[in-house]
Amino acid sequence: MSLRERTEIPVVGDDGSHIDPSNSCSPRRSLSNSSRGYERASRGLTRVASASSALSLVSNPNLSLLDSELQVVEDCKEFPVVVVVVGASGDLARKKTLPALFSLFYHNLLPLSFAVVGYARSKLSVEEFRSSVSSNLVCRVGDRECCEAKTRAFLERCFYFSGQYGSLEDWLNFDRWLSEDIEPRMNQSDIATRGARRAPGRLFYLAIPPSVFAETLRSISRGAMAPEELGAWTRVIVEKPFGRDSESYMALRDLVAECFPEEALYRIDHYVGKPLVANLTTLRLGNFVFDALWNRHCIESVQVVFKEDFGVEGRAGYFDAYGIIRDILQNHLLQVLSIIAMDPPASPHAADINEAKLRLLYDIKPLHAKDFIIGQYDRYRSERGVPKDSCTATFAACVVQIDNERWRGVPFVMLAGKALDERKVYVKVAFHETPNHTFIPEELRDKRNTFYIEIQPRPAVELSFITKTPDLEGRVVQTKLDLVYNESFSAEAQDMPDAYERLISDAIVGDRTLFISDAQISRAWELFDPALKELERDPPVQPVIYPYGSKGPILPETLIKKYMAGRMQD
Ligand code: NDP
Ligand code: BG6
Repeated sequence: MSLRERTEIPVVGDDGSHIDPSNSCSPRRSLSNSSRGYERASRGLTRVASASSALSLVSNPNLSLLDSELQVVEDCKEFPVVVVVVGASGDLARKKTLPALFSLFYHNLLPLSFAVVGYARSKLSVEEFRSSVSSNLVCRVGDRECCEAKTRAFLERCFYFSGQYGSLEDWLNFDRWLSEDIEPRMNQSDIATRGARRAPGRLFYLAIPPSVFAETLRSISRGAMAPEELGAWTRVIVEKPFGRDSESYMALRDLVAECFPEEALYRIDHYVGKPLVANLTTLRLGNFVFDALWNRHCIESVQVVFKEDFGVEGRAGYFDAYGIIRDILQNHLLQVLSIIAMDPPASPHAADINEAKLRLLYDIKPLHAKDFIIGQYDRYRSERGVPKDSCTATFAACVVQIDNERWRGVPFVMLAGKALDERKVYVKVAFHETPNHTFIPEELRDKRNTFYIEIQPRPAVELSFITKTPDLEGRVVQTKLDLVYNESFSAEAQDMPDAYERLISDAIVGDRTLFISDAQISRAWELFDPALKELERDPPVQPVIYPYGSKGPILPETLIKKYMAGRMQD
């Protein structure tokens, strides 16, 4: 029986409340999840940064460690969970997923009773697996002794199972091994004493190439679901890319839907979990000064920029088939843009935020080749695994137009590039030229007030403005108020969580706020499909070649000027 069929049977907890197996960690949780979400978000709105030298903004860089969230996690702690990392031998699992789980454990944010189980084809002993896991674990804060003890304790909870991704037989064997050998070993004494007869929830984290998603999900759903009759939930975290275009996404979606209901699916876009991105809504809507100006009457242009100072680095096989538009713009940058531009959601609950984002996505005009400048770094075709005649873009910039009352006529530039001059991701909001020139010298008249949000590597918020120097000369200059997180939140910033920590923790407690809905992905593909088809026609549009380590073929400011001058096709 599939989970879909099984979820129709209501599960009743010991206290008589209904358990939603895919949306809660406990009977009570499902009733209180939304109010907790509100509590968490509203706590985010009430904390005032103590930036002594700078902007005193209402913001918190460290939302995942708020007291109320800790309370949510606390409530879920008594419910055992097994996190199954599928593709545990791979890059993402080693570098991100497993270290994030360790960090949650280090901060006491995992259930009291938990196990991490690696699943992959590679034949590894449990010792080999633990040794590979341990090589990537770090403790951001705390002393060495504590770090070593915590590392040991975490590794003791790590196990490994070797199997084929699409083999039902292997997943049935896995299920047997998990329920007979591993789960009974998990410390459930506190739960047993409360008479809650509950089997561990199973969170499957798919860190495998998209080509094996479907067969893996099908086999898991048939062979390795957590026993719902014992009150356990099954959830699945899936990583981008979600298809290559609308058609392939729909096919994948239909396949997945046969195995898992939407509520059990947690689609990760890790950009949404980055502390500064998770803070965008609060910055915008928690500060009157921005909220009141957030429209076309006050804002001239918006840039959402992603720059990396390295190339494809051994991921050419994947990257050449996808390119930068699918790798970064269609998901990471579009998500950031939708948070920046959405109308205020009715509440901070997942459903309202997702609705606001979706409404915004429907107001965006679909993109065409003429909206883009694409580029490729000069060494790309010599990278191992890249065809000599590849036209795959490693750089893309486009102007997005939002056809609604708030934004009509404001260019939103999305720009992403690999092998550029620096590693930086930021949002820049430029306000209109001030109508009153009386106090501004000629040479500063083209300057704009800008609100700059650096997502990485140096999380910061800056507001630039015109002022006079305090000396006798009293020159008029442009300067800025800034909130640099490492300075203003010095304690918290040392322990800033990785995006994956927050997202995995949310999946364990059943909070879907930061995960991407099916409707958003479908619409995102609809927006990019026309441009991708036109750019990849036969023969494809040739990318502009740019030197490795340069600024790329075009600057965001130049693109905005071109757009304003109506010369996008030049
Ligand atoms: P890997 O290429 O490292 O693959 C993960 C594991 O899958 C490998 O260790 C291998 O394990 C197995 N595998 C690899 N190729 C195949 C294949 N052709 N058929 C079956 N199994 C295969 O991928 P990543 O870890 O880099 O990425 C995993 C997923 O996460 C992908 O969907 C990727 O797009 C996404 N992602 C990755 C990011 C990253 O930084 N790496 C960032 C964001 C998303 P074994 O042989 O032991 O079975
Ligand atoms: C991934 C892309 O989703 O994000 C990579 O596939 C990119 O190409 C990476 O390098 C960037 O993530 P971050 O968190 O390092 O900015």
